[in-house]
Parts: sequence; C-alpha cells; structure tokens
Amino acid sequence: MIDDALPPSVVMVRTDADLLDVPLFPEEESALGRPVEKRRREFVTARACARRALEQLGVEPAPIASGPRGEPLWPAGVVGSITHCRVLRACAVARAEEMRSIGIDAEVHDSLPDGVLRLVASPDEQARIREAPDGLCLDRVLFSAKEAIYKAWYPLARRWLGFDDVDLSLSLDERTFHARLLVPGPQVDGGQLTGFDGRWRVDGDVVFCAVVVAA
Ligand SMILES: CC(C)(COP(=O)(O)OP(=O)(O)OC[C@H]1O[C@@H](n2cnc3c(N)ncnc32)[C@H](O)[C@@H]1OP(=O)(O)O)[C@@H](O)C(=O)NCCC(=O)NCCS
Repeated sequence: MIDDALPPSVVMVRTDADLLDVPLFPEEESALGRPVEKRRREFVTARACARRALEQLGVEPAPIASGPRGEPLWPAGVVGSITHCRVLRACAVARAEEMRSIGIDAEVHDSLPDGVLRLVASPDEQARIREAPDGLCLDRVLFSAKEAIYKAWYPLARRWLGFDDVDLSLSLDERTFHARLLVPGPQVDGGQLTGFDGRWRVDGDVVFCAVVVAA
C-alpha cells in the first residue's frame, strides 16, 4: 500500500526494524559525527536501506554522506530520498535520467501537537483539512507532505523552502496532493517549476508521503 505511492521507476527499500549490521563508509562516519544512539541507529538503518535500493537499481555500493544542509549525497546519475521515524525507515532511489528529484517522508499517524498546525499551514490550508473522516489525521498528512516536498525541492533549488511558501491541497479520494509554489521555482529542463504533485498513504500507524519530479 505504501509502495504504490511511488512510480515503478523508483526503487524503495523500507523497514520497521533497525538494520545495524552494515559497516559505514568513512565519508558516512564523518557525516554522522558522534551522535546520540537513536540518531546513529536511524542513520545506519537508512544506509542499510540505501545499499539494498542501490543494488536493486544496479548501482555499485557507494557512501551516502550528507551535504551542508543535511541533504543526502547520491552517487553520480542517481537521485533519491531518505526518511526515518519510529515506525518506518526508508530509502527511495531512481536513475537521474528517469527522475529529476524524489522526496519521501514518514511520520507516526497521530495528530500534530497543539499549536503546530497553525505554524505549518495557512488559514486556507487549515480550512481544507477541517472535514477529515474520523480517525484520519489530515494535519499530520499535510505536515508530512510538506516535508516530502522540501526533500524534493532542495536538490533542485539548493535553498530554503518554508511551510508558507506553498499552497497545499489534498485529495481524499485519490490520496494525492498538489502544492502550488508561492515563491519562484527552480529551472528544470529549461522550464520553471511551479508546483509539486505527490501521493499520501496511511497504513496502520504510518503516514507516508512521496513526491517525484519526473525527467
Ligand atoms: C529536512 C527535513 C525535511 C527532514 O525531515 P524530518 O521529518 O525531520 O526527518 P526524516 O527522518 O523524515 O528525514 C531525514 C532525512 O532527510 C534528508 N534531508 C535532510 N536535509 C535535507 C535537505 N536539505 N534536502 C533533502 N533531503 C534532506 C536526509 O536524508 C535525512 O536523513 P539522513 O540524515 O539519515 O541522511 C526537516 O527536518 C526540515 O528541515 N523541515 C523544514 C523544511 C520544510 O519542511 N519546509 C516545508 C516546505 S513546503
């Protein structure tokens, strides 16, 4: 159910358990630094997922270090995205000739803490998610969708995108979303990007959002 949020040209490997039996490359060790144990576990597990995903894509094992803004650094010719939360860790990759950018995000499916929604959603966006069916935390879906958008945006634009820099609409029937950019988008293939399309899924206690920008 979660996997069908991504097109077939994207390989995603995900796990709900720690995968720690993976040696890190020196570049990954220095990107990680000396973190708390939880951060080490999620970083290593994400690299374990990345190793398997790259293998399925037919790419040689390679370090996935982090750039200055935390972005994962993929081997030449590959684009991808990483997410980790308590209930899901995942890595999605594709060949750059198929995809320009990918953003994935996983969250535990519960309501945002009090006061957070108004920080991440405009009054219009808040109004659009007011009529959620019982048991569906659309505030969390909106938050996750925006984080997935940021992860797809950053490698293309190389600059910050704030929560109020897009106008996001969710479709309940299609389980899709569209974000209209309210700031100038990056140039992609000679045209200016004006928005992002994505898919959202809720599966048990996981919210999962995925955004792709096709080549
Ligand atoms: C960067 C951010 C999106 C990460 O999301 P998160 O829910 O905190 O954490 P997740 O576990 O889902 O994702 C972490 C992964 O994001 C990726 N990531 C971090 N910074 C990134 C960036 N600038 N660009 C792309 N991916 C990035 C990394 O791969 C990281 O995993 P790693 O450190 O093991 O490599 C979030 O911390 C953030 O800064 N959000 C504010 C920006 C935003 O969302 N704007 C809304 C635009 S509409």
